[in-house]
Amino acid sequence: MSTVLVTGAAGTIGTLLRRAWAGTHVLHCHDVAAPTVTLPGETWSRGDVTALTVPPGVDVVVHLAANARPGVAWEELRHPNVDGTRHVFAASVAAGVRTVVFASSHHAGGGYDRDRTPGVSARWPVRPCCFYGVTKTLGESFGRYHADRDGLTVTCLRLGDVDVRPHDELALRIWLSHPDLVRAFDAALTRAPGFGTFLVSSRNSRSRWDVTEDNRLLGYAPRDDAEDYTDLVGDAVSQQDCFRGPVANPHAPGR
Ligand SMILES: NC(=O)c1ccc[n+]([C@@H]2O[C@H](COP(=O)([O-])OP(=O)(O)OC[C@H]3O[C@@H](n4cnc5c(N)ncnc54)[C@H](O)[C@@H]3O)[C@@H](O)[C@H]2O)c1
Repeated sequence: MSTVLVTGAAGTIGTLLRRAWAGTHVLHCHDVAAPTVTLPGETWSRGDVTALTVPPGVDVVVHLAANARPGVAWEELRHPNVDGTRHVFAASVAAGVRTVVFASSHHAGGGYDRDRTPGVSARWPVRPCCFYGVTKTLGESFGRYHADRDGLTVTCLRLGDVDVRPHDELALRIWLSHPDLVRAFDAALTRAPGFGTFLVSSRNSRSRWDVTEDNRLLGYAPRDDAEDYTDLVGDAVSQQDCFRGPVANPHAPGR
């Protein structure tokens, strides 16, 4: 059992994790918004994440708070995603936290997915497909800095498309089911010390990501496959601007 502080705890992923961890871990929850449901045993604090104080005794901070909409302007992203994440890492170090798990995103390397590059690895150079992706690369950078300078264990999870089921062709490749999402965060809570960035999806037959080593290092064994939903997806394509068709980039790996 760990004592875990979850930022952005009222959101979609926060609510999924809280339901999974209620009774298993001691949960401190933080969000600027009110939760739609509170669970037995958890404690809540409300406020902007840039003013977060990490209570004494917290082992792990799971940092989810963000503007999670990839299409929005930089001005809407900078405060929660950049200033907020910088503050969460600093506040975690100040409170003597052992591990921070940072909810990064596949958008940090979305340029590779946009042009369907095969074998995408979290060890390749970042290649954000939007300013939201840029904010996630900055979050990973803050994590690397504090891992090196302060000995903080930092686990950056570049989450795929979290949904009940895949809804389009992109999601057939990068879908992350709710049960697999919980498995990945469970693994992140107890990962070996150090800094690491991991691409996280379900075990999708159409994946173009090379995650074998990531999964082994993280200790994550996904079970679901988007392929089971191909009939429901049909030929739907992603409506996100980031992924509308390949771009010609002669410098992209795999070309
Ligand atoms: N859902 C996905 O498919 C997906 C994929 C990749 C990465 N992520 C990342 O995972 C995290 C959680 O995503 P989600 O889908 O639960 O998003 P969400 O929008 O449902 O939840 C985000 C929560 O953060 C809170 N928040 C926003 N700004 C805040 C601030 N300034 N101070 C305090 N709280 C603030 C919101 O109130 C909200 O409850 C985000 O960092 C997101 O970028 C999500």
